[in-house]
Amino acid sequence: MSLLKRAEQALTAHFEKAAGVGAPPRLVAAMRHAVFSGGARIRPQLCMAVAAACGDNAPNLTDASAVSLELMHCASLVHDDMPAFDNADWRRGRPSVHKAFSEPLALLAGDGLIVMAYRVMLQTGTPHAERLVALMNNLTDGVGLPDGIVAGQAWECETSADLGQYQRAKTGALFVSATRAGALSCGHAPEPWTPLGAFLGEAYQVADDIRDVIADAASLGKPVGQDALHARPSSAQTLGLEGAIAYFDQLIEQAAASIPACSHRDMLCLLVQHEAERLVPKALCEGYFKAHALDAKSPIRSAA
Ligand code: IPE
Ligand code: IPE
Ligand code: MG
Ligand code: MG
Repeated sequence: MSLLKRAEQALTAHFEKAAGVGAPPRLVAAMRHAVFSGGARIRPQLCMAVAAACGDNAPNLTDASAVSLELMHCASLVHDDMPAFDNADWRRGRPSVHKAFSEPLALLAGDGLIVMAYRVMLQTGTPHAERLVALMNNLTDGVGLPDGIVAGQAWECETSADLGQYQRAKTGALFVSATRAGALSCGHAPEPWTPLGAFLGEAYQVADDIRDVIADAASLGKPVGQDALHARPSSAQTLGLEGAIAYFDQLIEQAAASIPACSHRDMLCLLVQHEAERLVPKALCEGYFKAHALDAKSPIRSAA
């Protein structure tokens, strides 16, 4: 079974179990809308891939960890799209949750998904008490203070923010949680897997910044031009497009080089390379430079 299929199946099973019976139907519908909407599922796949490299000796725990990461990610997207944040009407090619269900239900759906992520861990992890505690701490690191998603989003509310710190917190931290969760689910030490999550996670946000400039809303399934519109710190703005693309390539190389020696190293390298091309296709970059006839001295192409 592919990692994507395993992630989808685990999400469906755990969502049903954790939602239980009798919750307000519109809240559950809003939460489903947020989760079952065609995301790339990179965080759960990363967790599962690292678990495979570590022997995957407790696959139910791996599945629960992978699901909890994706639920946290989906919650962050619901809140991120709300008018108080990025005010984005589209996500994954569909109306964002507050557009489809109302702002109160989007707020509650995000909250509900965060709590559901912990419930999924508790429902599955109890027979592995020691691993469970480590996994819950690891998940909390990815979303909480001082360096997780909540902190990352909050840097947008400060008068100034360091670009790298902002990106590592709002996006990188959950990738670090994902690679570490793969190891922790198997009772392995997580440290050797931290750099892979950190490099890939930062690369992900740099890619998101690049695509915000050069991609179109139809292919991304979400609005573009958002970073300039909301004056967000952005790699494309700070480094220039070429600088951001070069930095992305460097982070991808570092991610691949950081993969520990193991029987699954080739599979993990392929996953990283595949993601790199999916996120920032070389043809898209060249097409953009050509269409905009940007010469090397253009302020958009080079650093601002
Ligand atoms: C989008 O994440 C938001 C960022 C953190 C850059 P993804 O690109 O993983 O989005 P989905 O889950 O595939 O929709
Ligand atoms: C995404 O940041 C990170 C989150 C924590 C949700 P962005 O605001 O840049 O992501 P998109 O472009 O809306 O997916
Ligand atoms: Mg945002
Ligand atoms: Mg956004």
